[in-house]
Amino acid sequence: MKTFLLLLLFLSNLFYNSFAGDTLTPNSLLKDGQTLISAGGFFKLGFFSPGSSTMKYLGIWYMKIPVQTVVWVANRDIPLSDSLGSLKIGETGNLILSDGLQRPIWSTTATSNLSNPIAQLLDNGNFVLRNNDSISESYIWESFYNPSDTLLPGMKLGWNLKAGLESKLTTWNNSNDPSNGDYTFNLDLSGSPEMFLRHGSQIIYRNGPWTGFQFSGEPEMDSNSYISFDFISNQDEIYYTYKVIDSSVTFRLVLNQSQLQRYIWYDSVSSWSLYWYVPRDQCDSYAECGPYGFCNSNYSPVCRCVQGFKPKNPQNWNLRDGSDGCVRVTKLDCEKGDGFLKMNGIKLPDTTKAIVIQSISLEECRLRCLKNCSCLAYASANISAGGTGCITWGTELIDLKQFIDGGQDFYIRLAASELKGNSKKKHIIIIVVVIFSMLMLLLGSIGYCFWKNKKMKNITGYWRNKPRQLSFDTVITGHLSDDEESRRQNTDLPLFNFETILIATENFLIANKIGEGGFGIVYKGKLVEGQEIAVKRLSKSSLQGLEEFKNEVKLIAKLQHINLVRLLGCCIQGEENMLVYEYMQNRSLDTIIFDKARSPLLSWPIRFKIIIGIARGLVYLHQDSRFRIIHRDLKASNILLDKEMNPKISDFGLARIFGGEDTNAYTKRVMGTYGYMSPEYAMDGIFSVKSDVFSFGVLVLEIVSGKKNKGIHISDERINLLAYAWNLWKEGKILELFDASLGGSYSELEVLRCIHLGLFCVQERADDRPSMPLVLLMLSGANVVLPQPKNPGFWDGERSSEMKMSWSFSANDMSVTKLEGR
Ligand SMILES: *[C@@H]1O[C@H](CO)[C@@H](O)[C@H](O)[C@H]1NC(C)=O
Ligand SMILES: *[C@@H]1O[C@H](CO)[C@@H](O)[C@H](O)[C@H]1NC(C)=O
Ligand SMILES: *[C@@H]1O[C@H](CO)[C@@H](O)[C@H](O)[C@H]1NC(C)=O
Ligand SMILES: *[C@@H]1O[C@H](CO)[C@@H](O)[C@H](O)[C@H]1NC(C)=O
Ligand SMILES: *[C@@H]1O[C@H](CO)[C@@H](O)[C@H](O)[C@H]1NC(C)=O
Ligand SMILES: *[C@@H]1O[C@H](CO)[C@@H](O)[C@H](O)[C@H]1NC(C)=O
Repeated sequence: MKTFLLLLLFLSNLFYNSFAGDTLTPNSLLKDGQTLISAGGFFKLGFFSPGSSTMKYLGIWYMKIPVQTVVWVANRDIPLSDSLGSLKIGETGNLILSDGLQRPIWSTTATSNLSNPIAQLLDNGNFVLRNNDSISESYIWESFYNPSDTLLPGMKLGWNLKAGLESKLTTWNNSNDPSNGDYTFNLDLSGSPEMFLRHGSQIIYRNGPWTGFQFSGEPEMDSNSYISFDFISNQDEIYYTYKVIDSSVTFRLVLNQSQLQRYIWYDSVSSWSLYWYVPRDQCDSYAECGPYGFCNSNYSPVCRCVQGFKPKNPQNWNLRDGSDGCVRVTKLDCEKGDGFLKMNGIKLPDTTKAIVIQSISLEECRLRCLKNCSCLAYASANISAGGTGCITWGTELIDLKQFIDGGQDFYIRLAASELKGNSKKKHIIIIVVVIFSMLMLLLGSIGYCFWKNKKMKNITGYWRNKPRQLSFDTVITGHLSDDEESRRQNTDLPLFNFETILIATENFLIANKIGEGGFGIVYKGKLVEGQEIAVKRLSKSSLQGLEEFKNEVKLIAKLQHINLVRLLGCCIQGEENMLVYEYMQNRSLDTIIFDKARSPLLSWPIRFKIIIGIARGLVYLHQDSRFRIIHRDLKASNILLDKEMNPKISDFGLARIFGGEDTNAYTKRVMGTYGYMSPEYAMDGIFSVKSDVFSFGVLVLEIVSGKKNKGIHISDERINLLAYAWNLWKEGKILELFDASLGGSYSELEVLRCIHLGLFCVQERADDRPSMPLVLLMLSGANVVLPQPKNPGFWDGERSSEMKMSWSFSANDMSVTKLEGR
């Protein structure tokens, strides 16, 4: 009997298996075990069981990707418990999924009657129901308008106003259960449309209104040569969508619990690679700093009140809970005339209740807001057109974020006195500063004369004694008070005992010195347990107090990535601050690539691996870590190599320790190394992630060429590497840049790609340079066409590019004339 049944099952399967292709017709039945395959073989539709679950679901997944990645599920909330499910087109023309007892458990709800309905799986992953007779090919129903947790290229996230349909993402409950989870991501139509990530009804993240070419809160998501984003708004539809320009690259956007993630598939490693996600830092969490507070993840603490406002609840505010926000210091007085404070780099506040007028100019917008006493702020609605359109706010301003790089101008209404007072205050400050510096100058010169006299008399005194402060006996005798001891134990910061460090480095033996940089001397050491460490003894010019130093170290210790040197802890003794790192056997990159004898150690494949590793580390610092970090001093000597020649970026985060407050987009203290500094940073002190990109580009060119950016000699002329590379590029001889000592086998394509990318990163204008995630994408993407680079910034520490160029190529070079004529 059993055998008979099995035979029957086998026969029936045989029968149904004969049906193949991408289309389901009213006469056919799709049973468990059978699949529809899109015409080009990109997607597959069929029954599957997710993860460890034994339940059956009808879904769509990639055909060509070996890791089953389900992009759509039909019966999310009602699974089948056996393999007897089937899909067919019912009498009304709707798709019906039935269980073994022919009970419908899921169906589409199209209302129009179809004379000849067919269901088809398309190559973009869309499963559509349409009338085979109709000429217009319009879809009666489509899976693209009923997404699960994944937004594929071409899908629309938003509203079909005519049909009253909403398309939104809802997470899977967990990886074994595709039922509707607690997190949703959808487009809210009120005010200026924005998308919200919610947990239940609570808002977690908001991406800000569309400002012409991107969302206000996602400045890094601008369209590039791989992927382009669009926001369509008309009478019938309002939606967000994206498309992939290079079809060799597979992208997907997925709502994965509390994160919106963007993945790219790499055939070479056969896995999905996460390359972007939100919410990313503390400032992405909705209303982190309350009404009238703004959040900047480069500040510590991250919350600040908008100028003219003060913390509503100072106690909580000081405890770093900014959620109560800020209150106005001086009341508005519409009659007497208020003014506007301009803030830049802003993610516009919640626009749910804002009013948008696209047709007017920003100036009209200002006047309109000024005239209306209940208007509290305004901004341009379309920055792609150079700042047109008008958004005005009449309710409290919430969820403001400030970016170093990105965002837009935002104007907040303040009482006239607040604005005037401010300029008065500024004057006073300037006067005080001037008087103070004059006094200091006077005192200084008197002091200098005094000191000079004294020094003559007592040359063996103070200065020779000072270093002894650090000698062994001083330290052994000085013990910590109990109070201090307990404080050390209470903190989660890994603190090393000073004695431990002394023993490990043999009392900072000169023979153990392995490096010296702007931030101090590095010693090799060995802990009693045998672990090798590197101790960086920070120079004393730190601008910070002890508490801030500890905070920063705690923060940096939390940054962990395979391509960053791991900070093991720190040691604080008197005025001395030391950082303890893992030790790297192969020291720094510069000790190898610039050394004729050692450079053959690094074959091309290793160099390529190093370039990718550095890019990964930087992507992590710039966007993946909770705290966005700009390195500011990326160079070959800051890239360390471990036993396997894996690159590790070191000295990251030191800019924070030394820079103190000026982590803003502008600094008076230019820290970094000439030759690696972007022109805008070296000359104007403006830095951003793009300054790191510049340094990365220089580094890539150095790795490829084995030459230092500074001081190459070409027929007796000293020119910099960038100028040299750029010339070769223009002459079409760029492969000459490649390190001759390498010989051996290398992929010309990879070398070319790296040089091209290097030049792309060192372009003079920061805006032209790619972001690090894009760099990584370009490095990994196999079939990707890079845009032509524009001329690089030739900053070499002494002169600006044009001067340098005319100096180094005195005559007979055609490309020079072109550059100078620019
Ligand atoms: C669909 O057909 C049913 C009966 O066959 C009819 O009552 C209904 O009006 C039709 N609907 C449309 C939109 O034509
Ligand atoms: C759709 O209609 C065309 C012509 O009317 C026919 O040739 C084709 O077989 C139909 N396709 C399906 C899947 O029924
Ligand atoms: C979601 O999964 C959890 C276990 O992870 C389970 O307890 C819960 O019942 C599931 N919710 C639904 C709606 O299935
Ligand atoms: C969800 O995110 C986690 C980590 O961010 C990742 O490991 C996992 O693969 C993701 N799940 C999906 C379905 O992409
Ligand atoms: C914004 O400005 C650009 C350039 O003028 C224009 O193409 C676009 O349609 C505008 N967007 C809106 C929403 O008005
Ligand atoms: C003034 O602004 C408020 C809030 O934005 C708005 O509700 C009101 O309509 C505006 N009044 C006029 C006359 O524009």
